[in-house]
Amino acid sequence: MKDIDIQSKYPTIRLDALPKHVAIIMDGNGRWAKKRGKPRVFGHKNGVKAVREATELAAELGIEYITLYAFSTENWQRPRLEVNMLMSLLVDTIGKEIATLNDNNIRLKAIGDINGLPDKTREALLEGIEKTKNNTRSTLILALNYSGKWEITRAVRQIASGVLDGTLTIDQISQDTIGAHLNTQNIPDPEILIRTSGEHRISNFLLWQIAYTELFFLPIYWPEFTKQHFVEVLEDYQNRERRFGKTSEQLEG
Ligand code: FPP
Repeated sequence: MKDIDIQSKYPTIRLDALPKHVAIIMDGNGRWAKKRGKPRVFGHKNGVKAVREATELAAELGIEYITLYAFSTENWQRPRLEVNMLMSLLVDTIGKEIATLNDNNIRLKAIGDINGLPDKTREALLEGIEKTKNNTRSTLILALNYSGKWEITRAVRQIASGVLDGTLTIDQISQDTIGAHLNTQNIPDPEILIRTSGEHRISNFLLWQIAYTELFFLPIYWPEFTKQHFVEVLEDYQNRERRFGKTSEQLEG
């Protein structure tokens, strides 16, 4: 779609003031299913539709990165059946969606401890990443077996070993050094973080990267999330003033 058509489809969005990166904590699948008297996995399956809504809108508008918290390092503590179902849902979904990702020019990426995933999930993920690697419109990043504290700890270990083997001195360690050792190296920090389900928590997601991120907590469950909710978040974001520690007057100057 041409930009002029996109603008008429989404007249309230300023295309020249879009965020480059939107991160989403997809919460409330279990509660959504419970309200309907269904098992939790029914909620996760319906969550996939919402993933499609979010990813499609990001690609339509040309938002460069969208990161979804799909499975945290803490989620292994869930009932074994639910974990297994989530892992096979990921395999199915990635397999089914590769063609759609290619049709929409979306590249798949992952952050997290990918080596700690079950073989089939890791293989499906790596295949999805390989088959979409030349797409340029938008990048869909799945956070899998991910947590912010895990990621920062890993960065500290890598930096410490650099100091030990003499490739780095302590004085050379800057914020950029830390950023370069995170899984998100070369990806801009998110301007927006959305969490559904009405909970007001970060839950160990992108801890370093969200220092100045605008937070949006939506009172709906993840399977209910549509493009319209995303559009409303973008409208709200475009009306907020981001000061990064400065005063309003300094920003005007
Ligand atoms: C949180 O809801 C949801 C998850 C931990 C899993 C999200 C996974 C999907 C939507 C499917 C993954 C598919 C792709 C391709 C990314 P919850 O179970 O914590 O809900 P609750 O808080 O109501 O229990």
